[in-house]
Amino acid sequence: MDLQPALEILRARAPFVPELAIVLGSGLGQLAHCPEAMASVSLPFTELPGFPNQTVLGHSGRIIFCELEGRKVLLQAGRFHYYEGHPMALVTASMRLYGRLGVPMVVHTNAAGAVNAGFAVGELMVLSDHINLQGTNPLIGPNVEPGLRFIDMTEAYDRDLRRQLFAAAAASGQSLREGVYLAVTGPSFESPAEIRAFRTLGADAVGMSTVPEVLVARHEGMKVAGISCLCNLAAGILPQALTHQEVLAAGAEAGQRFEALVRTFVRALKS
Ligand code: HPA
Repeated sequence: MDLQPALEILRARAPFVPELAIVLGSGLGQLAHCPEAMASVSLPFTELPGFPNQTVLGHSGRIIFCELEGRKVLLQAGRFHYYEGHPMALVTASMRLYGRLGVPMVVHTNAAGAVNAGFAVGELMVLSDHINLQGTNPLIGPNVEPGLRFIDMTEAYDRDLRRQLFAAAAASGQSLREGVYLAVTGPSFESPAEIRAFRTLGADAVGMSTVPEVLVARHEGMKVAGISCLCNLAAGILPQALTHQEVLAAGAEAGQRFEALVRTFVRALKS
């Protein structure tokens, strides 16, 4: 995927080089509708060459440049999932673009299922690490310079940003979990046996996104943080079936807390 034409449009439309990008996951999109985001530059993905057109995309994925808590922020509403049949190059394209635009850090957010039986629905979890079980890696193929061919993942989720997230949680009176996010492709939810296996592997949460984008963001040299909204208990923990509706409902319920956390974090951000 040649990202040069998309990058040129992004550069032309960007009113500033953002200090931070925030990818808003399922159910956590309300920040994209806040007053600051309304009075801002909004660029639908459909306007970027090489990205799917409106009919394929269905709804309104977009990039928003806005001032949030006195910081220059890029909000990404919507993302491309591997389970939708998109190639990894598209799933991770926005990370390449932000890297090339000069964005120094990105906060990924997502909806996830709680694998750790000590966690509760609606809690927010800072990612400490990940396990990639998507069976592929977006960095496969010719290396994109100047990123390293074999990049280190020892501390993919920046320690200092994690500390700042916990400080923001304390300042906004919230509790926050920390744990390992395991990525599957979906779109089926996991079986109870898979969840038991994932727990044995050391996973605290399971989801269908984020890890490919984190790999590319790190390859672009960006600092990365991740926050999961634990929208359901993973399969087999409760004697009931999982539904996408419960995931969205829990995301919406967590929306206010999520927004308060992000705003407090952004306000206090030290780069
Ligand atoms: N599994 C995978 N992805 C998810 C889940 C889950 O239980 N909940 C939200 N995204």
